[in-house]
Amino acid sequence: ARLFGDSLMCGIIAYSGYRKALPILIEGLRRLEYRGYDSAGVALCDGEKVFVTRAEGKLSNLVELLEEKDGGEDATIGIGHTRWATHGRPSSTNAHPHTAGRVSLIHNGIVENYAELKESLKKQGVKFNSDTDTEIIAHLLNIHLSNSEDKIEALRQVCAEIEGSYAFVAFDAQDPSRLMIAKNSSPVIIGKKEREVFVASDVSALLEHTRDVIAVHDGDIAVVSPERIYIENNGKEVIRQSHHITWDPVTAQKGGYKHFMLKEIFEQPEVIGDTIRGRLDRKANAIDISEMRLTKEDLEPIKRVILIACGTAWHACLVGKFYIESFAGLPCEVDYASEFRYRDPILDSSTLVVAVTQSGETLDTLSAITLASKSCMTAAICNVIGSSITRATDRVLFTRAGPEISVASTKAFTTQLVSLYMLGLYIGQTKGRIDKETANTLIKELTKLPAVAEESLKCEEKIKSLAQRFHLAKDFLYLGRGLCYPIALEGALKLKEISYIHAEGYPAGEMKHGPIALIDENMPVVVVLQKSDIYFDKTLSNLKEVEARGGKILSVTDTTGHGELAKISHCVVEIPYISQWLSPITLSLPLQLLAYYIAVENGTDVDQPRNLAKSVTVE
Ligand code: M6R
Repeated sequence: ARLFGDSLMCGIIAYSGYRKALPILIEGLRRLEYRGYDSAGVALCDGEKVFVTRAEGKLSNLVELLEEKDGGEDATIGIGHTRWATHGRPSSTNAHPHTAGRVSLIHNGIVENYAELKESLKKQGVKFNSDTDTEIIAHLLNIHLSNSEDKIEALRQVCAEIEGSYAFVAFDAQDPSRLMIAKNSSPVIIGKKEREVFVASDVSALLEHTRDVIAVHDGDIAVVSPERIYIENNGKEVIRQSHHITWDPVTAQKGGYKHFMLKEIFEQPEVIGDTIRGRLDRKANAIDISEMRLTKEDLEPIKRVILIACGTAWHACLVGKFYIESFAGLPCEVDYASEFRYRDPILDSSTLVVAVTQSGETLDTLSAITLASKSCMTAAICNVIGSSITRATDRVLFTRAGPEISVASTKAFTTQLVSLYMLGLYIGQTKGRIDKETANTLIKELTKLPAVAEESLKCEEKIKSLAQRFHLAKDFLYLGRGLCYPIALEGALKLKEISYIHAEGYPAGEMKHGPIALIDENMPVVVVLQKSDIYFDKTLSNLKEVEARGGKILSVTDTTGHGELAKISHCVVEIPYISQWLSPITLSLPLQLLAYYIAVENGTDVDQPRNLAKSVTVE
């Protein structure tokens, strides 16, 4: 499905043909609206002039602006974009398209080496109009195009210079009908009709015009016009198959998945990769989150960290506590924002308070960080650029999960864990609390995470059959120890939220102090076990207590072929091992799938469960 779009961040649409481009672009952007975005824009070319219009906020703002403006209505060539900010706050100047000389360009992705490229372009006298990484691509393309007058050659040069993930589409004002495309990691597709060509990030933007689409592959560069589609990879022309898409418009928005939640679960390897991208200084073997503006001087007086959040983000903080304490060597407390804000928390200049939030709009978290900022240093880990919480503190590390539509948080959670891992490591390195060799190993393991997450999702079929077997259970107990305890809590929350089944997360070692009374042959007990010297055997002994009382044990583990565990478990879901510190991330994936498939079995409204809102902006 990912080949045919379901763009994670920005939405792209481009047209070259004989009809008026503007209505096609606006309709395409409307079809991409469901994913949420912060600004939108179009560039049109009537063969002589280029007309660019961009607006912050909703598509209707752009449409209003276009109604007030003259020019471009008859253009038959154009590009349009909805932006989900990654570099530079949401604003009309940071909105796409970006123009540089003869080039107008839209982009989805992240240019990793943007800082060095920007510096070098500035030295060559280039003036920038935005804070985006995208404008760099437009300038590079303009320079190379002016040097060679050969579109493919110019694309080759640009792609040799930029690092990161990208799908971009551009036109050259001097020869606009031939659209230029390049792709690496981010999705882009081409749609063809007689005397017309379309380019988009998602199939949903094209369905109205054509169902025959070509998926552009990683490393491809292309020049497409109504007359010809030329694609090359590695210096050689390639012929990419056209595919007939049968999805209805709603399925297309979900990238072919039944629900946004499932789509978002499967996006995790990619968004985890995006969250790490550009934040590792490979030469120095260090975490580089300088964008957060948490300097060595800032950290000097810090002796204690408090993490505050709500719901799923609070579970991420419980894992974050391990990272801060073990990597940074600082005491770390975790608090519910709704509790913190009404206590008299003891705060001083040696305390760093970090708010963790997907939306950046949760009222309790916003109030808590505002309270903290009166007496100590604050920071945030957040998924939405420009959101209220990112304005309440100066130091923000953005998770790059892209828009999360399903109410039940999945990809926001795992990218929060990745961000907390990087933050712990960054503080540890900056304060000299972690030796080079350990840092080296931790960074190496982090780079493997997207691939191991991908492998871990292969348990889907096994989970599906577990869901069929257990979906009628009235209660579930989730157990874990150490880093797996918060994962057990999160697994239970996911199940409660979307299937309405009562589920309780508990530290496995505490079970004998109460919850053991609940166990009988009707109680499924989901246990999360990581390969670790201390916790594995201890959890195993706790499980024997469950087995003795007839409880059905469903084990989720990164340990393979453990005979003893297999003997006492009704079922063992094994995922590949990554590391003790990162397994909470990969072990969450089977639990997300379990909650999802149980909810599907029970026919609940998975993406919009009853009584819940995506962002809780009330007390
Ligand atoms: O946007 P936030 O991360 O601040 O939201 C916090 C919680 O409301 C949120 O995580 C909630 O628990 C989710 N529905 C969990 O799936």
